[in-house]
Amino acid sequence: MPLDSLTQQPPDGLLALMSQYAADPRRTKLDLGVGVYRTEAGATPVMAAVKLAEQRLVDIQGSKSYLGPEGDVEFVRALQPVVFGAALTAELGGRLTGLQTVGGTGALRLAADLIAAASPGHRLWLGTPSWPNHAPVFAGGGLHVRPYRQFDAATQRFDLEATLVALNQAATGDVVLLHGCCHNPTGADPTAAQWDQIIEVVVQRGLVPLIDIAYQGLGQDLESDAWALRRIVARVPQALVAYSCDKNFGLYRERVGALFVVAARAAGAEAALSHLAAHARASYSMPADHGAAVVRTILADATLRAQWSDELRGMAARIASIRNGLSALGQVGLVDLTPLSQQRGLFALLPLAPNVIERLRVEHGVYMAGNGRINIAGLAQSAVARFGDALAAAQTAAAA
Ligand SMILES: Cc1ncc(COP(=O)(O)O)c(C=O)c1O
Repeated sequence: MPLDSLTQQPPDGLLALMSQYAADPRRTKLDLGVGVYRTEAGATPVMAAVKLAEQRLVDIQGSKSYLGPEGDVEFVRALQPVVFGAALTAELGGRLTGLQTVGGTGALRLAADLIAAASPGHRLWLGTPSWPNHAPVFAGGGLHVRPYRQFDAATQRFDLEATLVALNQAATGDVVLLHGCCHNPTGADPTAAQWDQIIEVVVQRGLVPLIDIAYQGLGQDLESDAWALRRIVARVPQALVAYSCDKNFGLYRERVGALFVVAARAAGAEAALSHLAAHARASYSMPADHGAAVVRTILADATLRAQWSDELRGMAARIASIRNGLSALGQVGLVDLTPLSQQRGLFALLPLAPNVIERLRVEHGVYMAGNGRINIAGLAQSAVARFGDALAAAQTAAAA
């Protein structure tokens, strides 16, 4: 195989930004790039509930023998009521199944593999802007990605009209990717009334929702953040849910996720699971154990679970308070920060020209993704005003 015929791939923009940030000697620098939660002090610590669960696992785990391509089935079972709620989980019964995956990304890729196995080159509607890895993961899994605009950059609001126009063009059986909560990169989720309009089109046109939920509990709370997902799943015969525990358990590098399948009948769910297990087996055999064992341990123990949800509530509260601080800055140059208090989760997408983003980095040590996405949690309360000043100064300098 002629390896030397391969051309160099472009470096990942965010990873390159991380290296530039690390090399910047300025003490006042701000890292608003990579999408991880940070404390006021700028740390991304291991959650206390996770530490305790890890200690417990060290004490009681008696074997590290293989589990199988479905991973930790108790983890998957324990997660179901967290995601779907106890009532809907019971109602779905055998129509609901799932398996442990290599993070939320692995869940999305297995979802693509499953859809492509049933229908090669199947069409998936993807509202843009979206998480930059969505399109490559789906295309890599053999799907035909059909992008449509779902965000109005000028007003920084979710664009319901454009979404409904696009979904009304979809054919029966087309898959539509929906962010369950805390939209990445915009933070702009549909309102409850807007969700109902989207769901109506999904139901009317017989579309298959693929719900990506990677931030449950980091928006408002565990229940509110799953509201849309549950409302959709309750209305449709078939759905796929790609779940990540990497953010809400702070387990990023442990790569913990699950893919859930809701089928029209229990036999369909079983068949889908057998395909997913076969795909997992053929690509990575089985997922790593540790992170899922930690999540299972936390969910199975009332004290650890309460501690975890308290910590998660604290994280969501910090994000909301930074959002409110930014929103209170109002109009900064050409950027209206007011909508940020209405948005949810780690991210906001600021309508900034590339030369302003560059000036923010070079002249002010403010690092953000090249599309203007900022990680809200990268800001301490004390840095909000400084960020606003830098944002104003960079725009003025760029316009001069
Ligand atoms: C919207 C969205 N989906 C999925 C993922 C993947 O998460 P994981 O790290 O668990 O693969 C991310 C991670 O940034 C994300 O933002």
